[in-house]
Amino acid sequence: MSLIDPHGNRGLVNRTLTGAAVSARLAELADAPSLTLSNRELSDLYLIGVGALSPLTGFQSERDYHSVVNHLALADGTVWPLPVTLAAPAEQAERLRPGQIVVLRDAAGTAAGTLTVADVYGYDAAEQARLVYRTDDAAHPGVAALYRQPNRLVGGDVTVFIDRIAAEFPDYELTPTETRARFDALGWRSVVAFQTRNPVHRAHEYLQKCALETVDGLLLHPVVGETKSDDIPAAVRMRCYEVLLERYFPTGRVLLAALPVAMRYAGPREAIFHAILRQNYGCTHFIVGRDHAGVGAYYGTYDAQHLFDELPVGGLKIEPLKYEHAFWCLRTGGMATTKSSPATAAEQIVLSGTKVREMLARGERPPITFTRPEVADILIQSLSVPVI
Ligand code: ADX
Repeated sequence: MSLIDPHGNRGLVNRTLTGAAVSARLAELADAPSLTLSNRELSDLYLIGVGALSPLTGFQSERDYHSVVNHLALADGTVWPLPVTLAAPAEQAERLRPGQIVVLRDAAGTAAGTLTVADVYGYDAAEQARLVYRTDDAAHPGVAALYRQPNRLVGGDVTVFIDRIAAEFPDYELTPTETRARFDALGWRSVVAFQTRNPVHRAHEYLQKCALETVDGLLLHPVVGETKSDDIPAAVRMRCYEVLLERYFPTGRVLLAALPVAMRYAGPREAIFHAILRQNYGCTHFIVGRDHAGVGAYYGTYDAQHLFDELPVGGLKIEPLKYEHAFWCLRTGGMATTKSSPATAAEQIVLSGTKVREMLARGERPPITFTRPEVADILIQSLSVPVI
């Protein structure tokens, strides 16, 4: 029994090819042109293949691209907030013809899939930045990545050789089919997803537990794809989760899985994108806290929450669970938000990310009002051991 339909109501997309079928396909394509994908494009390719980006069956063509950028929807009206595109230099892209098959390769030259060319088109990166990221400032990491891209986009359906795309956490990188099967086996009828790119702290745990009070299970779904260089590496964050779940959560209520998607830091639009992904993984609810997927001061604290309210009615099946800024409350002696505590500003213990990093770098545990000691120890250790 399926908990929730994949986004777009056309079933879970499956564009994967494995085993001998891959070698046979590659032999047929010995003379086909190739394109080399960036890390972000490679993770998008994988996600399209396994249905995590359903209903997308490939990289967006020009019609969908413009519709997404301007109207937050695919050309057929399905809600879709972010471009999922494949960029290529003009000299390569303009040799391609509609209907032609291209081999898609990773940076090492390994064939990771194919694309059947639908179209090749130019795009206005500054316009995309303003509409999608709400800023054209090249200091924004998502905008900077966009500006680094080559200047043509190639749209078309893909097939993906999933065995050839290396997984950093093979035991945790479950596909939507696999998470749905797990939820089913666990008998969960409602599942809340938690997106994160940061080491887990008490506010995260509070949100997860508030949600767990009302749903059957929690999918802890940290991003393990490309993040900015000063974010904590995924391997460290996964260890933090393991220890947290072992010590502070009941067994059988949480599924920890890793999501190999690249962060865009697009704030509100990315929050919708994150929710769609989790719907495809079978979740019925999605946690959206303060400044979701934000960076610096580009987005208002609750802009991401507000964007969910602006979507057309029925545009998204997964339900956002919105939480205000959570803090340790001196008055009530626990985690809280201003919705549940009368704490004055002086009674709200909030530590900035910078402050926490400074403490960890000095080998000091931040207070237990901010982080669990076991988690702090993993972070301190990771900072003293260079990550290879
Ligand atoms: S994000 O880029 O994945 O959004 P992060 O891992 O920090 O960054 O946040 C994960 C989720 O927790 C997001 O929904 C975010 O809004 C929420 N969140 C993080 N810290 C807090 C907090 N102190 N109070 C409320 N929500 C928070």
